[in-house]
Amino acid sequence: MRTPLMAANWKLYNVTVEESTAEARGIALASAASSCEVVICPPFPYLPLVKEAIENSKVKLGAQNVFWEERGGFTSQVSPVILKELGCEYVIIGHSETRGRFGVSSISEDLLSYFSETDETVNLKVRAVLKHGLKPIICVGETIEERKAGKQDEVVSYQIQTALKQVEDIKDIVVAYEPVWAIGTGEFCDPSEANRIIGLIRDKIREIYGSSADEVRILYGGSVDPTNIASFMAQEEIDGALVGRASAKAETFSKIINYS
Ligand code: PGA
Repeated sequence: MRTPLMAANWKLYNVTVEESTAEARGIALASAASSCEVVICPPFPYLPLVKEAIENSKVKLGAQNVFWEERGGFTSQVSPVILKELGCEYVIIGHSETRGRFGVSSISEDLLSYFSETDETVNLKVRAVLKHGLKPIICVGETIEERKAGKQDEVVSYQIQTALKQVEDIKDIVVAYEPVWAIGTGEFCDPSEANRIIGLIRDKIREIYGSSADEVRILYGGSVDPTNIASFMAQEEIDGALVGRASAKAETFSKIINYS
């Protein structure tokens, strides 16, 4: 049986010490009644502050990104060792916003590769965090252009296969299907379509790892809110949600983690 996971991707929504502390405390309080595992992923500098705010609750700590090297001349990067030292358990990897898309990117395709990660760097990060005992939340999902061209299955399959290259043990892995066009737009994916793609992702994982695929939690993400969470959770293949905007305020995220 897979325990549902609700992950709050705070992105850059809570930016002051005061609001970050208050919202984290509110989520910690609400988590007591939830039957889900709950994670908050704040911006890097607020990891210690959120860690303190969620102390003595069941909420876990996660980061929004990571670098694959442990140490060295890598200005501005954050090592998996640092995340482990700060008490993180989860790390979001390959979010469409760190893949350089920011919804509809204004950066041209030829420049994009200098600013963003690729399927290959996602794979390096996945392997690095697993080595350090952290759990990756691997994001995959197609753009609106890819969906219009009917390429969503192909794109998502390629992303998941590449992300898992040379990964031997998948027990700590979480995947999030996040169609890029549904992120931050209010235009969520039809729950039955999300269920179909998540089933496809599980099949791809099963092709490589056999029945261990049944233990991997696969989340849906993209405009999840208190009004639609139950319809996603009613789907057989969907094991939780990666929530952006609606996770930043305890008032709304509490309704999501206590959806049932
Ligand atoms: P959203 O973001 O809930 O604001 O659409 C989800 C995500 O990007 O993880």
